[in-house]
Amino acid sequence: MKIAILSKGRKNYSTTRLVEQAKLRGHEVTVINYAKCFVTLEQNNPVVNYGGEIITDIDAIIPRISANLTNYGSSIVRQFEMQNVFTTTSSIAIVRARDKLRSMQLLAKSGVGIPKTVFARETADYEGVLEQVGGAPVIIKVARGTHGTGVVLAETRKAALAVMQAFNVEGVNFLVQEYIAESKGSDIRAFVVNGKVVASMMRNSNDDDFRSNLHQGGQGEVVKLTDIERKTAQKAAKAMGLTIAGVDMLRSDRGPLVLEVNASPGFGIEKVTGRNVAASIIEYTEHSAKTGRRKDKVGA
Ligand SMILES: Nc1ncnc2c1ncn2[C@@H]1O[C@H](COP(=O)(O)OP(=O)(O)O)[C@@H](O)[C@H]1O
Ligand SMILES: [Mg+2]
Repeated sequence: MKIAILSKGRKNYSTTRLVEQAKLRGHEVTVINYAKCFVTLEQNNPVVNYGGEIITDIDAIIPRISANLTNYGSSIVRQFEMQNVFTTTSSIAIVRARDKLRSMQLLAKSGVGIPKTVFARETADYEGVLEQVGGAPVIIKVARGTHGTGVVLAETRKAALAVMQAFNVEGVNFLVQEYIAESKGSDIRAFVVNGKVVASMMRNSNDDDFRSNLHQGGQGEVVKLTDIERKTAQKAAKAMGLTIAGVDMLRSDRGPLVLEVNASPGFGIEKVTGRNVAASIIEYTEHSAKTGRRKDKVGA
Protein backbone atom coordinates (compact mmCIF):
# COMPACT_ATOMS: atom_id res chain seq x y z
CA MET A 1 0.00 0.00 0.00
CA LYS A 2 1.00 3.59 -0.40
CA ILE A 3 0.44 5.38 2.88
CA ALA A 4 0.84 9.10 3.48
CA ILE A 5 1.32 10.47 6.97
CA LEU A 6 0.07 14.02 7.26
CA SER A 7 2.43 15.58 9.74
CA LYS A 8 4.16 18.90 10.22
CA GLY A 9 7.21 17.27 11.73
CA ARG A 10 8.98 14.57 9.76
CA LYS A 11 11.19 13.99 12.78
CA ASN A 12 8.42 13.84 15.39
CA TYR A 13 8.56 10.70 17.45
CA SER A 14 5.04 9.68 16.36
CA THR A 15 5.78 10.31 12.70
CA THR A 16 9.07 8.42 12.68
CA ARG A 17 7.41 5.50 14.47
CA LEU A 18 4.57 5.33 11.95
CA VAL A 19 7.02 5.49 9.04
CA GLU A 20 9.16 2.77 10.57
CA GLN A 21 6.25 0.42 11.26
CA ALA A 22 4.67 1.01 7.84
CA LYS A 23 7.96 0.14 6.13
CA LEU A 24 8.39 -2.91 8.33
CA ARG A 25 5.04 -4.15 7.11
CA GLY A 26 6.09 -3.66 3.50
CA HIS A 27 4.32 -0.42 2.67
CA GLU A 28 5.49 2.54 0.70
CA VAL A 29 5.22 5.53 2.98
CA THR A 30 5.57 9.25 2.53
CA VAL A 31 5.32 12.13 5.00
CA ILE A 32 3.34 15.12 3.80
CA ASN A 33 3.63 18.41 5.60
CA TYR A 34 -0.02 19.39 5.34
CA ALA A 35 0.77 22.95 6.38
CA LYS A 36 2.67 23.34 3.11
CA CYS A 37 0.05 21.70 0.89
CA PHE A 38 -2.43 23.64 -1.11
CA VAL A 39 -5.63 22.43 -2.62
CA THR A 40 -7.12 23.18 -5.98
CA LEU A 41 -10.83 23.11 -6.49
CA GLU A 42 -12.63 22.86 -9.72
CA GLN A 43 -15.69 20.96 -10.77
CA ASN A 44 -15.32 17.23 -9.99
CA ASN A 45 -11.58 17.41 -9.60
CA PRO A 46 -10.26 17.96 -6.09
CA VAL A 47 -6.47 17.76 -5.92
CA VAL A 48 -3.79 18.30 -3.31
CA ASN A 49 -0.58 20.01 -4.35
CA TYR A 50 2.62 19.51 -2.42
CA GLY A 51 6.21 20.36 -3.17
CA GLY A 52 5.38 21.44 -6.72
CA GLU A 53 3.52 18.25 -7.54
CA ILE A 54 0.00 16.91 -7.44
CA ILE A 55 -0.33 14.05 -5.01
CA THR A 56 -1.80 10.96 -6.61
CA ASP A 57 -1.96 7.21 -6.02
CA ILE A 58 -2.24 7.36 -2.24
CA ASP A 59 -4.19 4.44 -0.77
CA ALA A 60 -4.53 5.75 2.76
CA ILE A 61 -3.66 8.78 4.85
CA ILE A 62 -2.91 8.92 8.56
CA PRO A 63 -3.56 12.50 9.70
CA ARG A 64 -1.49 13.83 12.62
CA ILE A 65 -2.94 17.31 12.74
CA SER A 66 -1.63 19.63 15.41
CA ALA A 67 -4.09 21.56 17.52
CA ASN A 68 -3.12 24.98 16.20
CA LEU A 69 -3.69 23.95 12.58
CA THR A 70 -6.98 22.12 12.97
CA ASN A 71 -8.88 24.02 10.34
CA TYR A 72 -6.23 24.00 7.66
CA GLY A 73 -5.21 20.44 8.41
CA SER A 74 -8.76 19.15 8.32
CA SER A 75 -9.40 20.85 4.98
CA ILE A 76 -6.43 18.97 3.51
CA VAL A 77 -7.84 15.74 4.96
CA ARG A 78 -11.22 16.59 3.46
CA GLN A 79 -9.63 17.06 0.06
CA PHE A 80 -8.28 13.50 0.23
CA GLU A 81 -11.69 12.28 1.36
CA MET A 82 -13.23 13.85 -1.73
CA GLN A 83 -10.82 11.78 -3.80
CA ASN A 84 -12.05 8.69 -1.91
CA VAL A 85 -8.69 8.13 -0.24
CA PHE A 86 -9.08 6.20 3.02
CA THR A 87 -8.25 8.23 6.11
CA THR A 88 -7.77 6.79 9.58
CA THR A 89 -9.41 9.90 11.01
CA SER A 90 -12.14 11.81 9.22
CA SER A 91 -11.89 15.54 8.74
CA ILE A 92 -15.13 16.10 10.59
CA ALA A 93 -13.97 14.10 13.61
CA ILE A 94 -10.75 16.13 13.79
CA VAL A 95 -12.70 19.39 13.93
CA ARG A 96 -15.21 17.99 16.39
CA ALA A 97 -12.61 16.74 18.88
CA ARG A 98 -10.92 20.11 18.97
CA ASP A 99 -13.93 21.84 20.45
CA LYS A 100 -14.37 21.09 24.14
CA LEU A 101 -17.96 22.29 24.23
CA ARG A 102 -19.05 20.14 21.32
CA SER A 103 -17.09 17.19 22.70
CA MET A 104 -18.67 17.41 26.14
CA GLN A 105 -22.13 17.58 24.58
CA LEU A 106 -21.52 14.44 22.55
CA LEU A 107 -19.91 12.62 25.46
CA ALA A 108 -22.77 13.51 27.79
CA LYS A 109 -25.27 12.24 25.25
CA SER A 110 -23.38 8.97 24.77
CA GLY A 111 -23.84 8.15 28.43
CA VAL A 112 -20.18 8.10 29.53
CA GLY A 113 -19.37 9.79 32.83
CA ILE A 114 -18.16 13.38 32.61
CA PRO A 115 -17.51 16.00 35.27
CA LYS A 116 -20.54 18.23 35.67
CA THR A 117 -19.96 21.03 33.20
CA VAL A 118 -21.51 24.41 32.39
CA PHE A 119 -20.80 26.36 29.21
CA ALA A 120 -20.92 30.07 29.25
CA ARG A 121 -19.70 33.08 27.40
CA GLU A 122 -21.35 36.31 28.33
CA THR A 123 -23.54 36.02 31.31
CA ALA A 124 -24.27 38.32 34.15
CA ASP A 125 -25.10 35.32 36.31
CA TYR A 126 -21.63 34.06 37.25
CA GLU A 127 -22.92 33.07 40.67
CA GLY A 128 -25.55 30.91 39.01
CA VAL A 129 -22.89 29.19 36.91
CA LEU A 130 -20.85 28.43 40.02
CA GLU A 131 -23.85 27.14 41.86
CA GLN A 132 -24.61 24.70 39.06
CA VAL A 133 -21.27 22.93 39.53
CA GLY A 134 -21.43 22.97 43.32
CA GLY A 135 -19.41 26.12 44.04
CA ALA A 136 -15.64 26.65 44.39
CA PRO A 137 -13.18 25.09 43.93
CA VAL A 138 -13.99 24.79 40.21
CA ILE A 139 -12.10 24.17 37.00
CA ILE A 140 -12.46 26.78 34.26
CA LYS A 141 -11.31 25.94 30.73
CA VAL A 142 -11.16 27.83 27.50
CA ALA A 143 -13.02 25.93 24.80
CA ARG A 144 -9.97 25.47 22.59
CA GLY A 145 -7.15 24.97 25.03
CA THR A 146 -4.63 22.17 24.73
CA HIS A 147 -1.66 20.66 26.61
CA GLY A 148 -3.06 22.03 29.87
CA THR A 149 -2.80 25.67 28.84
CA GLY A 150 -6.11 27.42 29.28
CA VAL A 151 -7.17 25.29 32.25
CA VAL A 152 -7.48 27.06 35.58
CA LEU A 153 -8.25 25.75 39.04
CA ALA A 154 -10.13 28.51 40.83
CA GLU A 155 -9.95 27.62 44.49
CA THR A 156 -12.28 30.26 45.82
CA ARG A 157 -15.53 31.83 44.71
CA LYS A 158 -13.77 35.17 44.24
CA ALA A 159 -11.04 33.68 42.09
CA ALA A 160 -13.64 31.87 39.97
CA LEU A 161 -15.65 35.03 39.41
CA ALA A 162 -12.52 36.95 38.42
CA VAL A 163 -11.42 34.29 35.94
CA MET A 164 -14.85 34.15 34.32
CA GLN A 165 -14.92 37.92 34.03
CA ALA A 166 -11.45 37.92 32.48
CA PHE A 167 -12.46 35.31 29.89
CA ASN A 168 -15.58 37.29 29.23
CA VAL A 169 -13.61 40.46 28.56
CA GLU A 170 -11.45 38.53 26.10
CA GLY A 171 -14.58 37.19 24.42
CA VAL A 172 -13.58 33.53 24.68
CA ASN A 173 -15.96 30.62 25.11
CA PHE A 174 -15.25 28.75 28.29
CA LEU A 175 -16.59 25.97 30.38
CA VAL A 176 -16.83 25.65 34.11
CA GLN A 177 -16.46 22.21 35.61
CA GLU A 178 -16.74 20.61 39.00
CA TYR A 179 -13.27 20.00 40.38
CA ILE A 180 -12.57 16.30 40.86
CA ALA A 181 -10.28 16.62 43.87
CA GLU A 182 -9.96 12.89 44.49
CA SER A 183 -8.10 12.39 41.20
CA LYS A 184 -5.25 14.21 42.98
CA GLY A 185 -3.52 15.65 39.94
CA SER A 186 -3.57 12.36 38.02
CA ASP A 187 -5.45 11.31 34.96
CA ILE A 188 -5.62 8.29 32.73
CA ARG A 189 -4.83 8.25 29.04
CA ALA A 190 -6.26 5.34 27.09
CA PHE A 191 -5.08 4.96 23.51
CA VAL A 192 -7.86 3.49 21.40
CA VAL A 193 -7.31 2.00 17.95
CA ASN A 194 -10.25 0.55 16.07
CA GLY A 195 -12.44 0.16 19.13
CA LYS A 196 -9.76 -1.41 21.36
CA VAL A 197 -7.58 0.08 24.06
CA VAL A 198 -4.05 -0.72 22.85
CA ALA A 199 -2.15 1.11 25.62
CA SER A 200 -2.98 2.97 28.80
CA MET A 201 -1.06 5.04 31.27
CA MET A 202 -1.62 7.14 34.32
CA ARG A 203 -0.16 10.63 34.26
CA ASN A 204 0.80 12.24 37.51
CA SER A 205 1.34 15.95 37.82
CA ASN A 206 4.60 17.46 38.70
CA ASP A 207 4.74 18.81 42.33
CA ASP A 208 1.50 20.51 43.31
CA ASP A 209 0.03 21.21 39.87
CA PHE A 210 -3.53 19.89 39.41
CA ARG A 211 -2.79 19.27 35.71
CA SER A 212 -1.22 16.01 34.70
CA ASN A 213 -0.38 16.90 31.08
CA LEU A 214 3.06 15.66 30.07
CA HIS A 215 3.53 19.13 28.58
CA GLN A 216 3.14 20.54 32.10
CA GLY A 217 5.81 18.29 33.49
CA GLY A 218 3.51 15.33 34.25
CA GLN A 219 5.03 11.84 34.43
CA GLY A 220 3.50 8.75 32.91
CA GLU A 221 3.35 5.28 34.43
CA VAL A 222 1.78 2.03 33.35
CA VAL A 223 -1.72 1.47 34.67
CA LYS A 224 -4.11 -1.41 34.36
CA LEU A 225 -7.57 -0.20 33.48
CA THR A 226 -10.67 -1.54 35.15
CA ASP A 227 -13.34 -3.02 32.90
CA ILE A 228 -15.48 0.03 33.24
CA GLU A 229 -12.57 2.32 32.40
CA ARG A 230 -11.82 0.33 29.28
CA LYS A 231 -15.46 0.38 28.20
CA THR A 232 -15.71 4.09 28.92
CA ALA A 233 -12.69 4.81 26.72
CA GLN A 234 -14.12 2.74 23.88
CA LYS A 235 -17.51 4.37 24.17
CA ALA A 236 -16.01 7.87 24.28
CA ALA A 237 -13.96 7.29 21.12
CA LYS A 238 -17.04 5.97 19.36
CA ALA A 239 -19.18 8.89 20.50
CA MET A 240 -16.66 11.23 18.87
CA GLY A 241 -16.53 9.23 15.63
CA LEU A 242 -12.83 8.47 16.16
CA THR A 243 -11.24 5.09 15.45
CA ILE A 244 -7.90 6.39 16.69
CA ALA A 245 -8.23 8.36 19.90
CA GLY A 246 -6.49 9.35 23.10
CA VAL A 247 -9.18 9.32 25.77
CA ASP A 248 -8.41 11.22 28.97
CA MET A 249 -10.28 10.21 32.10
CA LEU A 250 -10.21 11.07 35.78
CA ARG A 251 -10.65 8.41 38.46
CA SER A 252 -13.42 9.76 40.62
CA ASP A 253 -15.45 8.41 43.51
CA ARG A 254 -18.27 7.76 41.09
CA GLY A 255 -16.14 6.01 38.45
CA PRO A 256 -14.27 7.21 35.37
CA LEU A 257 -15.09 10.69 34.11
CA VAL A 258 -14.02 11.59 30.59
CA LEU A 259 -12.26 14.92 30.20
CA GLU A 260 -11.46 14.93 26.53
CA VAL A 261 -10.82 12.81 23.49
CA ASN A 262 -7.78 13.65 21.38
CA ALA A 263 -7.87 12.98 17.64
CA SER A 264 -4.07 13.01 17.17
CA PRO A 265 -2.84 11.57 20.46
CA GLY A 266 0.89 11.64 21.17
CA PHE A 267 3.00 8.49 21.13
CA GLY A 268 4.81 9.19 24.40
CA ILE A 269 2.59 6.41 25.75
CA GLU A 270 4.72 3.89 23.81
CA LYS A 271 7.76 4.83 25.85
CA VAL A 272 5.82 4.54 29.10
CA THR A 273 4.05 1.26 28.34
CA GLY A 274 6.33 -0.48 25.84
CA ARG A 275 3.29 -1.07 23.62
CA ASN A 276 3.63 -0.80 19.86
CA VAL A 277 0.88 1.70 19.16
CA ALA A 278 2.30 2.59 15.75
CA ALA A 279 2.02 -1.03 14.58
CA SER A 280 -1.62 -1.18 15.73
CA ILE A 281 -2.38 1.91 13.68
CA ILE A 282 -0.69 0.55 10.56
CA GLU A 283 -2.52 -2.78 10.92
CA TYR A 284 -5.80 -0.98 11.29
CA THR A 285 -4.98 1.11 8.21
CA GLU A 286 -4.28 -2.02 6.16
CA HIS A 287 -7.56 -3.69 7.09
CA SER A 288 -9.72 -0.66 6.70
CA ALA A 289 -8.28 0.81 3.53
CA LYS A 290 -9.48 -2.35 1.78
CA THR A 291 -13.04 -2.13 3.05
CA GLY A 292 -13.22 1.58 2.26
CA ARG A 293 -14.21 4.71 4.04
CA ARG A 294 -16.90 4.59 6.68
CA LYS A 295 -19.58 7.16 6.92
CA ASP A 296 -19.53 9.44 9.94
CA LYS A 297 -22.47 8.48 12.12
CA VAL A 298 -22.15 10.95 14.96
CA GLY A 299 -24.58 13.41 13.48
CA ALA A 300 -23.47 16.50 15.40
N1 LIG B 1 -12.62 18.78 36.32
C1 LIG B 1 -11.35 18.51 36.66
N2 LIG B 1 -11.03 18.10 37.89
C2 LIG B 1 -9.73 17.83 38.24
N3 LIG B 1 -8.68 17.95 37.39
C3 LIG B 1 -8.94 18.35 36.13
C4 LIG B 1 -10.28 18.64 35.68
N4 LIG B 1 -10.21 19.03 34.39
C5 LIG B 1 -8.92 18.98 34.04
N5 LIG B 1 -8.13 18.57 35.06
C6 LIG B 1 -6.65 18.37 34.99
O1 LIG B 1 -6.14 19.30 34.04
C7 LIG B 1 -5.55 18.62 32.93
C8 LIG B 1 -5.86 19.35 31.62
O2 LIG B 1 -7.25 19.38 31.37
P1 LIG B 1 -7.87 19.01 29.93
O3 LIG B 1 -9.34 19.21 30.02
O4 LIG B 1 -7.40 17.67 29.52
O5 LIG B 1 -7.25 20.16 29.00
P2 LIG B 1 -6.14 20.10 27.86
O6 LIG B 1 -6.88 19.94 26.59
O7 LIG B 1 -5.47 21.42 27.93
O8 LIG B 1 -5.24 18.93 28.12
C9 LIG B 1 -6.13 17.21 32.98
O9 LIG B 1 -5.27 16.28 32.38
C10 LIG B 1 -6.33 16.99 34.48
O10 LIG B 1 -5.12 16.55 35.07
MG1 LIG C 1 -5.86 16.95 28.21
